Amino acid sequence: MGEATVRLPVKGASRDAVLAAMSASRAQDAKWRDARTWSLVYHAGDELTRLLTDAYTMFFSENGLNPMAFPSLKRFESEVVSMTAGLLGGDDQVVGNMTSGGSESLLMAVKTARDLARVERPDVDEPEMVLPDSAHPALLKAAHYFGVKPVRVPVRADFRADVEAMARAITPDTILLVGSAPSYPHGVIDPIADIGLLAAERGLSFHVDSCLGGFLLPFARRLGHAIPDFDLRVPGVTSISADVHKYGFAAKGASVILYRNSRIRRHQYFTFADWSGGLYASPTMTGTRPGGAIAAAWAVLNYLGEEGYLRLTETTMRTTEALMKGINAIDGLRVLGDPDMSVFAFASDSLDVYVVADLMDARGWHLDRQQMPSSLHLMVTPAHAGIVEAFLGDLRAVVQEVRSAPEGSLGGGMAAIYGGIAKMPDRTFVHDFLAGVLDEWTRV
Ligand SMILES: Cc1ncc(COP(=O)(O)O)c(C=O)c1O
Repeated sequence: MGEATVRLPVKGASRDAVLAAMSASRAQDAKWRDARTWSLVYHAGDELTRLLTDAYTMFFSENGLNPMAFPSLKRFESEVVSMTAGLLGGDDQVVGNMTSGGSESLLMAVKTARDLARVERPDVDEPEMVLPDSAHPALLKAAHYFGVKPVRVPVRADFRADVEAMARAITPDTILLVGSAPSYPHGVIDPIADIGLLAAERGLSFHVDSCLGGFLLPFARRLGHAIPDFDLRVPGVTSISADVHKYGFAAKGASVILYRNSRIRRHQYFTFADWSGGLYASPTMTGTRPGGAIAAAWAVLNYLGEEGYLRLTETTMRTTEALMKGINAIDGLRVLGDPDMSVFAFASDSLDVYVVADLMDARGWHLDRQQMPSSLHLMVTPAHAGIVEAFLGDLRAVVQEVRSAPEGSLGGGMAAIYGGIAKMPDRTFVHDFLAGVLDEWTRV
């Protein structure tokens, strides 16, 4: 309904006409190049973007599904995995693969833990995974897809995983524990060492979701920031994910999933030997794997090297500190918790932050809205270094505007929707609402 109203054109258009139409349709898109967005795009400058574009297009047509056909891609993937393992404390037993992104890496981690348990814990009929409620929804997607029951445990007041509560949530059917380094909502690292201890004691798999932090935390630590062990250095960690397309600054479609050893990774694979089309073997979720994404990931790691990442991390951390300081200095606003890197949220006890977000939208800033508690979210990149004062100036002005507005005069728009949803006790309605939003996405 509605989705079939645009038909394949009978005649093709000219190359110029096609590109012009596409270019024009970008007019309303978020202005990430001006550092006006706080999620979705990790921008580290036009020079890097040009390198990524060149590397991506060089391998635009190649397919990582069959590395025998493309030894170049096989080399790139192996080296990206190896460099990532080196950054994340892996020894020579550690193995892994590239995937299309954080979600696919998390899907693989859950499926692998489930299939490992099927072999090693045949007594478990209905596997469960215990995760802090701050963990990324892709883990719940994985639980949903792979028939693993998610047991979500409330985080502590500092937004970090409550390891004692996680221990209490373990049952004879638990196969997997999860922690984040850091969590998306509040940018804090869960007590990975304590969860590792728990996992080792109980003989459970333990996945660390370092999709956000994997390519920043190692450098932040080297710059002197107090970063606790969060990776394969921690005993008990059996797998870890790190997204090259986030703070690795690669082109979209690049993440790494690492396992402690190849015995575990065996349970990730899918092979099929009885098909008329030949022998089939696929390491991850996708069949075809775009060569461009693999090539661009290899390119950026080699182009930046340690020095480049240290430089970008230094800028990112410095910018984050300036932003957090500026936000905390605005009467009524406060940063939530004690964020460990460049991702954080701020809330207010006296103002409706959703109204603040709407008014910031009107000034061209796209802040992401969060709930439980209501807050606004920022992921800081080097591109934000130049806009700190402009952003804080607008935020101060907006807060003033909200304060001095007559009661009830603000609060329509998204604020009304978010405010309403936050208060809605019946979450079934919210699910239906969200499914309706997804329907809208493909309506022409
Ligand atoms: C902590 C964390 N894990 C996983 C993901 C999912 O990554 P992707 O959007 O690349 O699938 C994200 C995305 O922001 C994340 O922040």
